[in-house]
Amino acid sequence: MLGVFVKAALRPGLVKPCRLVRSVIQIPERTLVHQEGLPKLPVPPLKQTFERYLAALEPIVSEEELEHTRQLVQEFLNGGVGERLQKGLERRARKTDNWLSEWWMQSAYLDCRMPLAVYTSPGVVLPRMHFHDRQGQMRFAAKLIAGVLAFKKMIDTDTLPIEYLSEKPLCMDQYYQILSSCRIPGPKRDTVVNHSLGKIPITHITVVHNFQFFVLDVYHSDGTLLTEDQIYMQLEKIWNSSLQTNKEPIGILTSQHRNTWGKAYNNLIKDKTNKESVRAIQKSIFTVCLDAPMPRVSDELYPSRVAAQMLHGGGARWNSGNRWFDKTIQFIVGEDGTCGLVYEHAPAEGPPIVFLIDFVVKYMRRTEIVRSPMFPLPMPLKLRFNITPEVKRDIERAKQNMNMMVHDLDVKVLMFSHFGKNVPKQHKLSPDAFVQMALQLAYFRMYNMCCASCESASLRMFKYGRTDAIRATTMDSFTFVQAMQDPAKQNAERLALLRGAIQTHKEHTYNAIYGQAIDRHLLGLRLLSIEELTSMPEIFMDTSFAVAHHYNLSTSQVGSKTDCVMCFGPMVPDGYGVCYNPMDEHINIAITAFNSCEETHAAKFAQAVEDALLDMRALLEDTATAKQ
Ligand code: COA
Repeated sequence: MLGVFVKAALRPGLVKPCRLVRSVIQIPERTLVHQEGLPKLPVPPLKQTFERYLAALEPIVSEEELEHTRQLVQEFLNGGVGERLQKGLERRARKTDNWLSEWWMQSAYLDCRMPLAVYTSPGVVLPRMHFHDRQGQMRFAAKLIAGVLAFKKMIDTDTLPIEYLSEKPLCMDQYYQILSSCRIPGPKRDTVVNHSLGKIPITHITVVHNFQFFVLDVYHSDGTLLTEDQIYMQLEKIWNSSLQTNKEPIGILTSQHRNTWGKAYNNLIKDKTNKESVRAIQKSIFTVCLDAPMPRVSDELYPSRVAAQMLHGGGARWNSGNRWFDKTIQFIVGEDGTCGLVYEHAPAEGPPIVFLIDFVVKYMRRTEIVRSPMFPLPMPLKLRFNITPEVKRDIERAKQNMNMMVHDLDVKVLMFSHFGKNVPKQHKLSPDAFVQMALQLAYFRMYNMCCASCESASLRMFKYGRTDAIRATTMDSFTFVQAMQDPAKQNAERLALLRGAIQTHKEHTYNAIYGQAIDRHLLGLRLLSIEELTSMPEIFMDTSFAVAHHYNLSTSQVGSKTDCVMCFGPMVPDGYGVCYNPMDEHINIAITAFNSCEETHAAKFAQAVEDALLDMRALLEDTATAKQ
């Protein structure tokens, strides 16, 4: 998932040094040795990228546009400009740990001016909890906090297991970026500051209830962690001293357009008390949001309602002010059993976040009781904010904007229960590619055309690797979806086309995770053009380039052991954001769109995806039976 930030990446003149998270991080010894052994991200061959680019355009642009782009590619490759830029990228690759990562962090995240809520921060929907009473909610939150702190201990003691993809070890850097970190808004560009492993260890988390923020120290002065019981008692104190519901929702400021928040931020922290309170939130290990109950909905609508709550909090009247959207990780535990998180995307991708969730969920199943010494703990510190008339005005503006965002977001979580990874696997097909082809079929059935679509692929085999894109729309996927809609075609032929399209997707996946996809290479060439050339090469200015980057389908698989689903907003105003978690026997799929676009409809698209998955299974079974 790339969010709207790719648009920012396409804007010229944005490449300047930024404050990088890694600069304040000391990675411990074992992980450091592992990290040093990782290969560098390669720069793909120039000709290969442009051949693949033209192939990617074929199903999504007209023949005339394609012909025009072919000529531009020839000029770019033969006129010396391409070669010059390629050499520049190769030089950059030799001089840096990762030629892409700083550019990516900047252009994809820190330069992006859209609000974090809905537009860039993904949410995670966890299974619903059934709390009998408030104590149940607090006990659950205390256990969750203890679980995250146990995870942090693995990071601190350098015992986090190294992850693998296709039997290759992965870069673990993102794990060192997600705790004690926070995004800081700027009037033109943001930064991310990470306080973990700095000189002074961070010993507190922040808890927010009824829009009021508290510092909760989770370590004793001797460095030992508070027990679950002790955390629970502290949460009770927080609850009891934040019962008033008439407080200004200061946190809603963080949901604003980044330029607006950047200005409001400078205004807010002019006041010393406000500055100290903001710093306490920014430095905290993570935030826990104790949310007020939301309006009840049917069981069927419940996951979609929670996804919306994770993405934006439900609006100014509900929980949108019960957040600090700049904070890297915010766990959400609602009085009504709602459970999940929202995370700020700049420091990490979904997989490390979900790995953390899997760990915490497993931790929370433990039943062992740890006896807590009975000594009184100090009252958690309530963070004070002085609300000047200017701050009040900014809050009111933020409330209005948030309510518009809430109305505009269209979400549908599909709990597809008919089958999971098992079915494609039984038929010797990649489950991920199978789901991707279902998305292609669903889109084609709704719009009678295909579109530019991307799926995130991990680049973590490389040092400081983040993601590249797998372009899921290919000539093979196009032929398959057309055949599905053509009554003259036999199922045997359709199946052969499906298998072919899946094979192509698998090859693109392989290329992407080994650093040979096209999107980031094109981005690098384009950014280097801004730095080194006096004018932008035409290849980056033509219609095809814009069409190829207008991702009507922005998708990602974020698999987990926990029965959860990640969700994120669409990348373009007339597109869908689709995130899925294929479990063994079922698939959780979160789909988002914007209500302001008349052409898109999350629930209709979800229905089309469900139908596509079922029709594709029928195809597998039908032809399997025919063979017997
Ligand atoms: N026959 C039988 N089984 C097969 C198969 C085949 N032809 N092809 C794949 N499988 C199996 C795999 O062995 C795997 O088994 P497991 O469930 O026991 O692990 C399973 O099916 C899943 O494989 P597949 O569906 O092909 O997907 P993947 O796990 O390789 O994932 C990506 C593909 C692209 C999602 C992954 O490589 C990736 O990059 N993930 C990161 C995404 C990311 O960073 N997102 C960012 C979000 S912010």
